[in-house]
Amino acid sequence: MHDPSDTKAPHKFHASEAARLLDPRRTTDLAPAALLDALQVQPGNRIADIGCGNGFWLEHLMDLAPEGVRFEALDVSPGMLQALEQRLAHHPRWKDVTARLSEESRLPLADGTVDASLLANVHHELDDRVAFLREVLRVLVPGGRLALVDWEVPPEGVVPDRGPPVDHRVSRDTAIRELEEAGFQDIGSIPTSRDFHGLIGRRPR
Ligand SMILES: C[S@@+](CC[C@H](N)C(=O)[O-])C[C@H]1O[C@@H](n2cnc3c(N)ncnc32)[C@H](O)[C@@H]1O
Repeated sequence: MHDPSDTKAPHKFHASEAARLLDPRRTTDLAPAALLDALQVQPGNRIADIGCGNGFWLEHLMDLAPEGVRFEALDVSPGMLQALEQRLAHHPRWKDVTARLSEESRLPLADGTVDASLLANVHHELDDRVAFLREVLRVLVPGGRLALVDWEVPPEGVVPDRGPPVDHRVSRDTAIRELEEAGFQDIGSIPTSRDFHGLIGRRPR
């Protein structure tokens, strides 16, 4: 099956490197509990991990979320969804997960059906970032939340020793502007290490 990370989009993280996403040190850049806290997940909520990859954050959410939460795992890469299933199919909460292949700027979800959503290290890979954020807004319930976490642009002259090339990154200020342009409100911060920015936004009620 065609995998968008194979050809035309060199800025997409390739499924053949998915193992790199499982570095446990990632939880020092973003604490899973802080993520769950920002998303204000309630029992019975539906959470969408958009661009879930092989499920590093999804697994943490499955470990921490209250009972009765359902999870949507979405990715444009069939290879990533395969890696996700291989890794997590034996998780006790896998029965609460629906994994779906997504399109570049179109989520396979109905309007107003998601309570909380996550874009982790995905924003900088999108072809049309504002259109995509509008699409996330479409699937959120009124008052629903989006957590956007991504690599920060380093200060000028600093060459980062990890993460995507500087010219592929999107700064925190640009991310805030794009969230607002797409229609998100009440933009706030999620604590991260200085190599990242973490933002939370809400669909207007
Ligand atoms: C760097 S990986 C991060 C994976 C995961 N969120 C994590 O933090 O471990 C980026 C993921 O976003 C996916 N992706 C890129 N563009 C996407 C889009 N338009 N819609 C859904 N997924 C996308 C890629 O296929 C890849 O799996």
